[in-house]
Amino acid sequence: MRVVIHPDSAAVARAVARLVADAVTANPRLVLGLPTGRTPQPMYKELIALHVDGAVDFSRVTTFNLDEFCGLAPDHPGSYRHYMEERFFRHVNLARTRIHFLRGDAIDPASECERYDYAILAAGGIDLQVLGLGVNGHIGFNEPAATLEPRTHVVELRPETRRANAALFRGETAAVPSRALSVGMATILTAREIVLLATGRPKAPAVRRMVSGPLDSRLPASFLLARGHVEVVLDQAAAEELPAALPPGVELEVAAPERARR
Ligand code: GLP
Repeated sequence: MRVVIHPDSAAVARAVARLVADAVTANPRLVLGLPTGRTPQPMYKELIALHVDGAVDFSRVTTFNLDEFCGLAPDHPGSYRHYMEERFFRHVNLARTRIHFLRGDAIDPASECERYDYAILAAGGIDLQVLGLGVNGHIGFNEPAATLEPRTHVVELRPETRRANAALFRGETAAVPSRALSVGMATILTAREIVLLATGRPKAPAVRRMVSGPLDSRLPASFLLARGHVEVVLDQAAAEELPAALPPGVELEVAAPERARR
């Protein structure tokens, strides 16, 4: 695991957008796993800017989003699909047929989960998985639990997660669906490359526990420690509780100030 600390969230967004753009340039047929939440929004803006500048072409890229709320149709303003349409998909040249999403309004959620797993498998698995981090250490919607699900599943959302998502529902936590669909831990952990971004002071405790271990199903992100190649990109606030001595195998890099800004 490599932890890179940037001065602020804008620098995190630029660094991760650059990393994604470079991966697409290196492999135009990249299979890209995408997150939602507040954290990646500036990264999507940066990616759109890179696309507009002609620096990245998404025409042959395939995407799979991590999760979706149960019961919501794709055009529901609180759905993650709607979030992605507004903040990314409609601004870039992704082929509509290569955008993959869980249907929150599927009549049979279990077969919807199975369909998604097969679609990921058929695409050859995820090449680059971009992740956010829940305040409780969740990744995707893999919530802290006694055991973790390997594959796509229906999950009961924790109160803190529903609170954290209230902004999508006019600030009303009660309006946030109580269940969601999420890809599982094995799908995430077997991605060929993983980059996790976390910004802001509220993420600092989860970042500390993720980086220090132990692997704990009550902090699902801690399982990323079992992976050789994971890049954790933080702003200073999210890095605030990092221990002075990091465990063996965790490298720390403080990013140099950017010289040339677009
Ligand atoms: C949400 C999403 C996650 C996201 C996380 C952090 O509930 N399901 O995919 O990474 O929580 O969200 P935020 O970036 O808003 O803090």
